[in-house]
Amino acid sequence: MADPIVIAPSILAADFARLGDEVRNVAAAGADWIHLDVMDGHFVPNITFGPDVVKALRPATDRLFDVHLMISPADPYLEAFAKAGADLITVHAEASPHLDRSLQVIRGLGKSAGVALCPATPESAVEHVLDKVDLVLVMTVNPGFGGQAFIPGQLDKIHRIRALIGDRPIRIEVDGGINTKTAAVVAKAGADTLVAGSAVFKDGLGGYRDNIAAIRRAAVCGSSRVAA
Ligand code: DX5
Ligand code: ZN
Repeated sequence: MADPIVIAPSILAADFARLGDEVRNVAAAGADWIHLDVMDGHFVPNITFGPDVVKALRPATDRLFDVHLMISPADPYLEAFAKAGADLITVHAEASPHLDRSLQVIRGLGKSAGVALCPATPESAVEHVLDKVDLVLVMTVNPGFGGQAFIPGQLDKIHRIRALIGDRPIRIEVDGGINTKTAAVVAKAGADTLVAGSAVFKDGLGGYRDNIAAIRRAAVCGSSRVAA
């Protein structure tokens, strides 16, 4: 895929007491997108924040806001996240029985639409909605927490989703356990959009720039080795 690698730091690993500054700082350090993890304590066993926090962070940067909804149901909240300033809204295939409708609603709100798959969900779950998505998010950990270990079995799924997508303009995002080692292998499998929480924020403010650059280098290197 000709599109450049996108690095999307997840503010789940940022200092929640200073979120506005964190968004500003990580954008200044080279983040392409800002990844915002919304958790409801129901679909996933953790709770983070809702549309009001997204709205409060919106003035901090003009980088794309990549809102990952780990909530069920998602439909009642799509409009609120769109109005709060999300640019791309991703819903989980497992979170609603009417995925096709959720994706139509997101696009109807004028936003880009993404569909996410948990590690146990096969790629066939997205096969019939590919005409309604801008991005497929492959979870490389079970959603709910940062700092978990990458699940290597997802590489095969990334590869198969890349084949399903063909030449459609759909990005493949990976989320969970992405660092300089795993970035290369996910990019080689066909991912072009990499979420990273711990690996970006782990060294404090002074490390953001180098950490983002190192993940990007590893991914660019991996993507140049994509198998036919
Ligand atoms: C997990 C979240 C991820 C998480 C990634 O449910 O969706 O975005 O922040 O964190 P790391 O990069 O630390 O695995
Ligand atoms: Zn996420």
